[in-house]
Amino acid sequence: MLTLLIYDSKRGGTQQVVTAISQQLTHATAVQSIENFSAEQLSDYDQVLFAAPTYAGSLRKAAATFLEDNHSLLTEKRLFLVNTGIQFDQDKISSQLEAVFPEELRKTAQATVFIGGISLIPKMNLFEKLILKKVFSDNQIPFEPKTDYKRLDMTTLNQLIYQMNQKN
Ligand SMILES: Cc1cc2nc3c(=O)[nH]c(=O)nc-3n(C[C@H](O)[C@H](O)[C@H](O)COP(=O)(O)O)c2cc1C
Repeated sequence: MLTLLIYDSKRGGTQQVVTAISQQLTHATAVQSIENFSAEQLSDYDQVLFAAPTYAGSLRKAAATFLEDNHSLLTEKRLFLVNTGIQFDQDKISSQLEAVFPEELRKTAQATVFIGGISLIPKMNLFEKLILKKVFSDNQIPFEPKTDYKRLDMTTLNQLIYQMNQKN
């Protein structure tokens, strides 16, 4: 089984999570950013994990376009859809997953999950910091502009890794 982990990442948090996942997979694995990925490469892989962060309720344009352009190829893969971000409420997580991943892909995927995220706050611009500060204050979390914020759902992450390691 050849596995591809393909990710979008604006500030680097999703890239860090995907790299950590790759280190726990037991078979041959490639890790690629969607930025320098050509669709023909998809045919080399049996299993594909696609991971992308949420910004204002959506995927970034390049990530959404990637899913649209490669829709039919992706439905032929052992596919895992992974969304990163900061969410605390299970209902919001469910509706976010429905909003960011097309229904047809969710139906064919082995798993569609939200795993939390890593926010590299020092790398963010002022606008991003202000938005995040509001989210943090709404959830009674202290906002520290010079420190990365990490909140990962380890149960979901470990299940995902377990599931991906099931096929040889
Ligand atoms: C301006 C802004 C908007 C965001 N909107 C959302 C959102 O709607 N839902 C969510 O779950 N997380 C949201 N986040 C959190 C990011 O998805 C989170 O920081 C993510 O880990 C960033 O990944 P990256 O470093 O790979 O770009 C937002 C963050 C910023 C700065």
